[in-house]
Amino acid sequence: MSELLRVEGLVKHFPLDRHRYVAAVNDVSFVIGRGETLGLVGESGSGKTTVGRCILRLIEPTAGRVWFDGRDITSLPDEQLRPLRHRLQLVFQEPFASLNPRRNVRQTVEEPLLLQGGMSARQRSDRLRETLALVHLGDRHLGRYPNQLTASEQQRVGIARAIVTHPDLVVLDEPTSSLDQTVRAEILDVLVDLQDRLGTAYLFISHDLTAVESVSHRIAIMYLGRIVESGSTQQIFGRQYHPYSRALLSAVLYPDPRRKLEPFTLRGEIPSAINPRDECALYGRCPIGLPSCTESAPPLEEVEAGHFAACFRWREFVSGKATAVTPPVEGAPHPAVSRWAGRDPARRPGDKAADPEWCSPVTKQER
Ligand SMILES: Nc1ncnc2c1ncn2[C@@H]1O[C@H](COP(=O)(O)OP(=O)(O)OP(=O)(O)O)[C@@H](O)[C@H]1O
Ligand code: SF4
Ligand SMILES: [Mg+2]
Repeated sequence: MSELLRVEGLVKHFPLDRHRYVAAVNDVSFVIGRGETLGLVGESGSGKTTVGRCILRLIEPTAGRVWFDGRDITSLPDEQLRPLRHRLQLVFQEPFASLNPRRNVRQTVEEPLLLQGGMSARQRSDRLRETLALVHLGDRHLGRYPNQLTASEQQRVGIARAIVTHPDLVVLDEPTSSLDQTVRAEILDVLVDLQDRLGTAYLFISHDLTAVESVSHRIAIMYLGRIVESGSTQQIFGRQYHPYSRALLSAVLYPDPRRKLEPFTLRGEIPSAINPRDECALYGRCPIGLPSCTESAPPLEEVEAGHFAACFRWREFVSGKATAVTPPVEGAPHPAVSRWAGRDPARRPGDKAADPEWCSPVTKQER
Protein backbone atom coordinates (compact mmCIF):
# COMPACT_ATOMS: atom_id res chain seq x y z
CA MET A 1 0.00 0.00 0.00
CA SER A 2 1.63 3.27 -1.04
CA GLU A 3 1.96 6.10 1.43
CA LEU A 4 -0.58 8.94 1.32
CA LEU A 5 -0.10 10.84 4.58
CA ARG A 6 2.97 11.06 6.79
CA VAL A 7 2.89 12.83 10.14
CA GLU A 8 6.21 13.26 11.90
CA GLY A 9 6.88 14.62 15.38
CA LEU A 10 3.58 16.56 15.49
CA VAL A 11 3.30 18.89 18.49
CA LYS A 12 0.44 21.23 19.37
CA HIS A 13 0.59 23.43 22.46
CA PHE A 14 -2.20 25.85 23.32
CA PRO A 15 -0.77 28.74 25.34
CA LEU A 16 -2.83 29.69 28.40
CA ASP A 17 -0.70 32.56 29.68
CA ARG A 18 2.97 33.52 29.67
CA HIS A 19 4.04 30.47 31.66
CA ARG A 20 1.43 27.83 31.03
CA TYR A 21 0.33 25.87 28.00
CA VAL A 22 -1.87 22.85 27.27
CA ALA A 23 0.25 20.14 25.66
CA ALA A 24 -2.57 18.75 23.49
CA VAL A 25 -0.32 16.76 21.12
CA ASN A 26 3.25 15.67 21.85
CA ASP A 27 5.54 14.15 19.29
CA VAL A 28 2.92 12.20 17.34
CA SER A 29 4.04 10.32 14.22
CA PHE A 30 2.16 7.95 11.90
CA VAL A 31 1.59 7.07 8.27
CA ILE A 32 -1.67 6.37 6.40
CA GLY A 33 -1.56 4.45 3.12
CA ARG A 34 -3.86 5.03 0.14
CA GLY A 35 -7.25 3.47 0.76
CA GLU A 36 -6.30 2.63 4.34
CA THR A 37 -8.14 3.41 7.60
CA LEU A 38 -6.18 4.35 10.69
CA GLY A 39 -8.32 4.34 13.83
CA LEU A 40 -7.24 6.94 16.39
CA VAL A 41 -8.58 6.18 19.87
CA GLY A 42 -8.11 7.47 23.40
CA GLU A 43 -9.89 9.05 26.32
CA SER A 44 -11.51 12.44 26.09
CA GLY A 45 -8.82 15.12 26.00
CA SER A 46 -6.10 12.79 24.70
CA GLY A 47 -5.58 15.01 21.64
CA LYS A 48 -7.35 13.10 18.83
CA THR A 49 -9.31 16.03 17.41
CA THR A 50 -6.27 18.28 17.67
CA VAL A 51 -4.27 15.80 15.56
CA GLY A 52 -7.03 15.80 12.91
CA ARG A 53 -7.23 19.59 12.86
CA CYS A 54 -3.48 19.99 12.55
CA ILE A 55 -3.38 17.57 9.60
CA LEU A 56 -6.10 19.54 7.81
CA ARG A 57 -4.30 22.77 8.76
CA LEU A 58 -7.45 24.08 10.47
CA ILE A 59 -5.04 24.93 13.26
CA GLU A 60 -1.30 25.45 12.97
CA PRO A 61 0.95 22.82 14.56
CA THR A 62 3.52 24.07 17.08
CA ALA A 63 6.12 21.72 15.62
CA GLY A 64 6.42 18.66 13.40
CA ARG A 65 5.76 17.95 9.75
CA VAL A 66 2.83 16.71 7.68
CA TRP A 67 3.38 15.29 4.20
CA PHE A 68 0.41 14.68 1.95
CA ASP A 69 0.96 12.70 -1.24
CA GLY A 70 4.71 13.31 -0.98
CA ARG A 71 4.36 17.05 -0.45
CA ASP A 72 5.24 18.85 2.77
CA ILE A 73 2.04 20.77 3.56
CA THR A 74 3.05 21.89 7.07
CA SER A 75 3.71 25.47 6.18
CA LEU A 76 2.13 25.81 2.74
CA PRO A 77 0.58 29.25 2.41
CA ASP A 78 -3.22 29.33 2.10
CA GLU A 79 -3.24 29.97 -1.65
CA GLN A 80 -1.14 26.83 -2.26
CA LEU A 81 -3.17 24.83 0.24
CA ARG A 82 -6.53 25.78 -1.29
CA PRO A 83 -6.20 23.56 -4.40
CA LEU A 84 -5.45 20.61 -2.08
CA ARG A 85 -8.52 21.18 0.10
CA HIS A 86 -10.81 19.05 -2.09
CA ARG A 87 -8.42 16.11 -1.62
CA LEU A 88 -8.50 16.39 2.19
CA GLN A 89 -11.92 16.46 3.82
CA LEU A 90 -13.53 16.31 7.25
CA VAL A 91 -16.69 14.76 8.69
CA PHE A 92 -17.83 16.11 12.04
CA GLN A 93 -19.25 14.42 15.11
CA GLU A 94 -22.54 16.32 15.25
CA PRO A 95 -24.34 15.90 11.92
CA PHE A 96 -27.01 18.53 12.59
CA ALA A 97 -24.63 21.17 13.97
CA SER A 98 -22.27 20.68 11.02
CA LEU A 99 -24.96 21.44 8.41
CA ASN A 100 -26.12 24.93 7.51
CA PRO A 101 -29.86 25.05 8.38
CA ARG A 102 -30.49 27.44 5.47
CA ARG A 103 -28.99 25.16 2.83
CA ASN A 104 -30.79 22.19 1.36
CA VAL A 105 -29.11 18.90 0.51
CA ARG A 106 -28.34 19.92 -3.07
CA GLN A 107 -26.69 23.19 -2.00
CA THR A 108 -24.74 21.52 0.81
CA VAL A 109 -23.34 18.66 -1.23
CA GLU A 110 -22.69 20.72 -4.36
CA GLU A 111 -20.75 23.46 -2.54
CA PRO A 112 -17.35 21.66 -2.48
CA LEU A 113 -17.64 21.06 -6.24
CA LEU A 114 -18.29 24.76 -6.84
CA LEU A 115 -15.28 25.66 -4.67
CA GLN A 116 -13.13 23.13 -6.50
CA GLY A 117 -14.22 24.52 -9.88
CA GLY A 118 -13.58 23.00 -13.31
CA MET A 119 -16.94 21.17 -13.69
CA SER A 120 -19.93 22.09 -15.84
CA ALA A 121 -23.41 22.31 -14.27
CA ARG A 122 -24.24 18.98 -15.91
CA GLN A 123 -21.12 17.28 -14.55
CA ARG A 124 -21.83 18.66 -11.07
CA SER A 125 -25.39 17.43 -11.17
CA ASP A 126 -24.27 13.93 -12.27
CA ARG A 127 -21.63 13.80 -9.52
CA LEU A 128 -24.18 14.99 -6.97
CA ARG A 129 -26.65 12.23 -7.80
CA GLU A 130 -23.96 9.58 -7.97
CA THR A 131 -22.62 10.65 -4.55
CA LEU A 132 -26.04 10.72 -2.91
CA ALA A 133 -26.69 7.22 -4.25
CA LEU A 134 -23.41 6.05 -2.66
CA VAL A 135 -24.65 7.18 0.76
CA HIS A 136 -28.10 5.71 0.07
CA LEU A 137 -29.91 9.03 -0.46
CA GLY A 138 -31.97 9.86 -3.52
CA ASP A 139 -33.47 12.67 -5.60
CA ARG A 140 -36.27 13.07 -3.06
CA HIS A 141 -33.74 14.36 -0.53
CA LEU A 142 -32.28 17.07 -2.77
CA GLY A 143 -34.63 19.86 -1.72
CA ARG A 144 -34.76 18.97 1.98
CA TYR A 145 -33.26 21.08 4.75
CA PRO A 146 -31.36 19.61 7.74
CA ASN A 147 -34.40 19.79 10.04
CA GLN A 148 -36.35 17.66 7.54
CA LEU A 149 -33.81 14.83 7.73
CA THR A 150 -33.32 12.03 10.26
CA ALA A 151 -30.02 11.86 12.20
CA SER A 152 -28.80 9.10 9.90
CA GLU A 153 -29.72 11.12 6.78
CA GLN A 154 -28.00 14.21 8.22
CA GLN A 155 -24.79 12.29 8.79
CA ARG A 156 -25.03 10.73 5.32
CA VAL A 157 -25.33 14.25 3.88
CA GLY A 158 -22.23 15.22 5.89
CA ILE A 159 -20.39 12.23 4.43
CA ALA A 160 -21.67 12.98 0.91
CA ARG A 161 -20.37 16.55 1.22
CA ALA A 162 -16.98 15.22 2.31
CA ILE A 163 -16.64 12.65 -0.47
CA VAL A 164 -18.27 14.49 -3.40
CA THR A 165 -14.88 15.74 -4.62
CA HIS A 166 -13.49 12.18 -4.41
CA PRO A 167 -10.89 13.13 -1.80
CA ASP A 168 -7.85 10.98 -1.07
CA LEU A 169 -8.23 11.36 2.69
CA VAL A 170 -11.19 12.02 4.98
CA VAL A 171 -10.74 12.79 8.67
CA LEU A 172 -13.80 11.35 10.41
CA ASP A 173 -14.03 12.90 13.87
CA GLU A 174 -16.36 10.73 15.96
CA PRO A 175 -18.73 10.35 12.99
CA THR A 176 -21.05 7.93 14.76
CA SER A 177 -20.85 8.84 18.44
CA SER A 178 -23.99 10.99 18.49
CA LEU A 179 -26.04 8.33 16.68
CA ASP A 180 -27.97 5.40 18.09
CA GLN A 181 -26.81 1.81 17.63
CA THR A 182 -28.75 0.94 14.44
CA VAL A 183 -27.89 4.20 12.69
CA ARG A 184 -24.26 3.78 13.76
CA ALA A 185 -24.04 0.39 12.06
CA GLU A 186 -25.63 1.85 8.91
CA ILE A 187 -23.10 4.70 8.75
CA LEU A 188 -20.15 2.36 9.32
CA ASP A 189 -21.38 0.17 6.44
CA VAL A 190 -21.64 3.24 4.19
CA LEU A 191 -18.06 4.26 5.07
CA VAL A 192 -16.62 0.82 4.36
CA ASP A 193 -18.57 0.58 1.10
CA LEU A 194 -17.34 4.02 -0.01
CA GLN A 195 -13.76 3.08 0.72
CA ASP A 196 -14.10 -0.07 -1.40
CA ARG A 197 -15.55 1.90 -4.30
CA LEU A 198 -13.51 5.11 -4.19
CA GLY A 199 -10.28 4.00 -2.47
CA THR A 200 -10.52 6.84 0.05
CA ALA A 201 -8.22 6.72 3.10
CA TYR A 202 -9.69 7.55 6.51
CA LEU A 203 -8.37 8.84 9.79
CA PHE A 204 -11.18 7.46 11.93
CA ILE A 205 -11.25 9.24 15.28
CA SER A 206 -13.45 7.56 17.85
CA HIS A 207 -13.73 6.41 21.41
CA ASP A 208 -15.96 3.54 20.31
CA LEU A 209 -13.51 0.65 20.11
CA THR A 210 -15.97 -1.75 18.52
CA ALA A 211 -16.64 0.79 15.73
CA VAL A 212 -12.90 1.35 15.32
CA GLU A 213 -12.31 -2.39 15.11
CA SER A 214 -14.94 -2.82 12.41
CA VAL A 215 -13.56 -0.18 10.03
CA SER A 216 -9.81 0.18 10.75
CA HIS A 217 -6.86 -1.57 9.16
CA ARG A 218 -4.54 -0.17 11.81
CA ILE A 219 -5.09 1.49 15.19
CA ALA A 220 -3.15 4.09 17.17
CA ILE A 221 -4.02 4.56 20.85
CA MET A 222 -3.42 8.01 22.36
CA TYR A 223 -2.98 8.99 25.97
CA LEU A 224 -2.44 12.59 27.06
CA GLY A 225 -1.20 13.80 23.68
CA ARG A 226 1.03 10.84 22.82
CA ILE A 227 0.57 7.62 20.87
CA VAL A 228 1.21 4.87 23.42
CA GLU A 229 0.55 1.88 21.16
CA SER A 230 -0.06 1.28 17.47
CA GLY A 231 -0.35 -1.72 15.21
CA SER A 232 -2.70 -3.59 12.92
CA THR A 233 -6.24 -3.99 14.24
CA GLN A 234 -5.56 -7.68 14.72
CA GLN A 235 -2.38 -7.00 16.70
CA ILE A 236 -3.98 -4.39 18.95
CA PHE A 237 -7.01 -6.54 19.72
CA GLY A 238 -4.89 -9.70 19.94
CA ARG A 239 -2.33 -8.61 22.54
CA GLN A 240 -1.68 -5.26 24.21
CA TYR A 241 1.88 -4.33 25.14
CA HIS A 242 0.97 -1.11 26.96
CA PRO A 243 -0.92 -1.05 30.29
CA TYR A 244 -3.12 1.80 29.07
CA SER A 245 -4.23 -0.12 25.97
CA ARG A 246 -4.95 -3.17 28.12
CA ALA A 247 -7.15 -1.05 30.43
CA LEU A 248 -8.98 0.44 27.47
CA LEU A 249 -9.65 -2.89 25.79
CA SER A 250 -10.60 -4.64 29.00
CA ALA A 251 -13.45 -2.13 29.37
CA VAL A 252 -15.00 -2.98 25.97
CA LEU A 253 -18.42 -4.57 26.27
CA TYR A 254 -18.56 -7.16 23.48
CA PRO A 255 -21.82 -8.77 22.47
CA ASP A 256 -19.85 -12.05 22.64
CA PRO A 257 -18.83 -12.47 26.33
CA ARG A 258 -16.07 -14.94 25.33
CA ARG A 259 -14.11 -11.97 23.98
CA LYS A 260 -14.08 -10.15 27.33
CA LEU A 261 -10.54 -9.54 28.64
CA GLU A 262 -9.52 -9.94 32.28
CA PRO A 263 -10.34 -6.63 34.04
CA PHE A 264 -7.31 -4.36 34.14
CA THR A 265 -7.86 -1.15 36.04
CA LEU A 266 -5.87 2.06 36.26
CA ARG A 267 -5.85 4.33 39.27
CA GLY A 268 -7.58 7.70 39.35
CA GLU A 269 -8.24 10.13 36.54
CA ILE A 270 -6.35 11.43 33.53
CA PRO A 271 -3.93 14.09 34.85
CA SER A 272 -3.48 17.66 33.73
CA ALA A 273 -2.21 18.40 30.24
CA ILE A 274 -0.83 21.74 31.44
CA ASN A 275 2.99 21.98 31.35
CA PRO A 276 3.45 18.18 31.54
CA ARG A 277 6.70 16.75 32.85
CA ASP A 278 9.02 14.75 30.62
CA GLU A 279 8.07 11.34 32.00
CA CYS A 280 5.67 8.51 31.24
CA ALA A 281 2.31 10.26 31.39
CA LEU A 282 0.70 7.11 32.81
CA TYR A 283 2.98 7.07 35.86
CA GLY A 284 0.79 7.51 38.92
CA ARG A 285 -2.10 5.63 37.35
CA CYS A 286 -0.13 2.66 36.10
CA PRO A 287 -0.25 -0.36 38.44
CA ILE A 288 3.23 -1.52 37.33
CA GLY A 289 4.93 1.90 37.15
CA LEU A 290 8.35 2.30 38.79
CA PRO A 291 10.04 5.54 39.89
CA SER A 292 12.40 5.10 36.93
CA CYS A 293 9.39 5.66 34.62
CA THR A 294 9.60 9.35 35.56
CA GLU A 295 13.12 9.82 34.14
CA SER A 296 11.86 10.49 30.60
CA ALA A 297 8.91 9.81 28.32
CA PRO A 298 9.17 6.25 26.95
CA PRO A 299 9.70 6.18 23.17
CA LEU A 300 7.59 4.00 20.85
CA GLU A 301 9.48 0.72 20.40
CA GLU A 302 8.72 -1.97 17.83
CA VAL A 303 7.52 -4.87 19.98
CA GLU A 304 6.75 -7.14 17.03
CA ALA A 305 6.73 -6.47 13.26
CA GLY A 306 4.54 -3.39 12.68
CA HIS A 307 3.42 -3.21 16.34
CA PHE A 308 4.75 -0.39 18.55
CA ALA A 309 4.39 0.42 22.26
CA ALA A 310 5.74 3.21 24.48
CA CYS A 311 6.33 1.54 27.83
CA PHE A 312 9.69 0.93 29.54
CA ARG A 313 8.35 -2.29 31.02
CA TRP A 314 6.55 -3.82 28.03
CA ARG A 315 8.57 -7.05 28.21
CA GLU A 316 7.71 -7.65 31.86
CA PHE A 317 4.13 -6.54 31.26
CA VAL A 318 3.43 -8.82 28.34
CA SER A 319 5.14 -11.82 29.95
CA GLY A 320 3.12 -11.29 33.13
CA LYS A 321 6.31 -10.79 35.17
CA ALA A 322 5.54 -7.19 36.13
CA THR A 323 3.76 -7.37 39.45
CA ALA A 324 1.50 -4.53 40.52
CA VAL A 325 3.55 -1.99 42.44
CA THR A 326 0.59 0.18 43.29
CA PRO A 327 -2.80 -1.53 43.57
CA PRO A 328 -5.70 0.19 41.85
CA VAL A 329 -7.82 2.39 44.08
CA GLU A 330 -11.00 0.62 45.20
CA GLY A 331 -14.01 1.94 43.34
CA ALA A 332 -11.95 4.22 41.07
CA PRO A 333 -13.85 4.82 37.86
CA HIS A 334 -12.46 3.02 34.85
CA PRO A 335 -10.75 5.56 32.58
CA ALA A 336 -12.75 4.46 29.61
CA VAL A 337 -15.95 5.06 31.51
CA SER A 338 -15.02 8.17 33.42
CA ARG A 339 -13.58 10.30 30.65
CA TRP A 340 -15.49 9.25 27.56
CA ALA A 341 -18.74 10.91 28.40
CA GLY A 342 -18.91 13.04 25.22
CA ARG A 343 -18.43 16.74 25.81
CA ASP A 344 -20.74 19.29 24.32
CA PRO A 345 -19.10 20.37 21.05
CA ALA A 346 -21.06 23.61 21.22
CA ARG A 347 -18.61 24.63 23.95
CA ARG A 348 -15.61 24.33 21.65
CA PRO A 349 -13.93 27.73 21.45
CA GLY A 350 -12.32 29.39 18.45
CA ASP A 351 -9.44 27.12 17.56
CA LYS A 352 -6.75 29.69 17.76
CA ALA A 353 -7.86 31.08 21.12
CA ALA A 354 -6.70 29.43 24.31
CA ASP A 355 -9.81 29.03 26.40
CA PRO A 356 -9.35 27.95 30.01
CA GLU A 357 -13.05 27.12 30.28
CA TRP A 358 -12.69 24.53 27.52
CA CYS A 359 -9.67 23.09 29.30
CA SER A 360 -11.19 22.93 32.73
CA PRO A 361 -13.08 19.64 32.42
CA VAL A 362 -9.93 17.87 31.30
CA THR A 363 -7.26 19.73 33.17
CA LYS A 364 -8.79 19.70 36.60
CA GLN A 365 -5.74 19.44 38.80
CA GLU A 366 -2.57 21.16 37.83
CA ARG A 367 0.49 19.34 38.99
N1 LIG B 1 -8.52 25.81 21.55
C1 LIG B 1 -8.02 25.24 22.63
N2 LIG B 1 -7.45 25.96 23.62
C2 LIG B 1 -6.90 25.37 24.70
N3 LIG B 1 -6.90 24.04 24.90
C3 LIG B 1 -7.46 23.27 23.96
C4 LIG B 1 -8.06 23.83 22.78
N4 LIG B 1 -8.54 22.79 22.02
C5 LIG B 1 -8.25 21.66 22.70
N5 LIG B 1 -7.62 21.96 23.87
C6 LIG B 1 -7.12 21.02 24.88
O1 LIG B 1 -6.27 20.08 24.21
C7 LIG B 1 -6.42 18.78 24.76
C8 LIG B 1 -6.78 17.81 23.64
O2 LIG B 1 -8.09 18.15 23.17
P1 LIG B 1 -8.81 17.35 21.99
O3 LIG B 1 -10.11 18.02 21.74
O4 LIG B 1 -7.86 17.23 20.86
O5 LIG B 1 -9.02 15.92 22.66
P2 LIG B 1 -9.89 14.71 22.12
O6 LIG B 1 -9.05 13.49 22.31
O7 LIG B 1 -10.40 14.99 20.76
O8 LIG B 1 -11.07 14.69 23.18
P3 LIG B 1 -12.63 14.27 22.96
O9 LIG B 1 -12.64 12.76 22.92
O10 LIG B 1 -13.30 14.81 24.17
O11 LIG B 1 -13.11 14.90 21.69
C9 LIG B 1 -7.46 18.89 25.85
O12 LIG B 1 -6.78 19.06 27.09
C10 LIG B 1 -8.23 20.14 25.49
O13 LIG B 1 -8.78 20.75 26.65
S1 SF4 C 1 6.58 3.31 31.35
FE1 SF4 C 1 6.21 2.72 33.47
S2 SF4 C 1 4.48 4.01 34.16
FE2 SF4 C 1 4.58 4.10 31.93
S3 SF4 C 1 3.16 2.55 31.24
FE3 SF4 C 1 5.17 1.59 31.30
S4 SF4 C 1 5.34 0.69 33.35
FE4 SF4 C 1 3.61 2.10 33.39
MG1 LIG D 1 -12.32 15.14 19.93
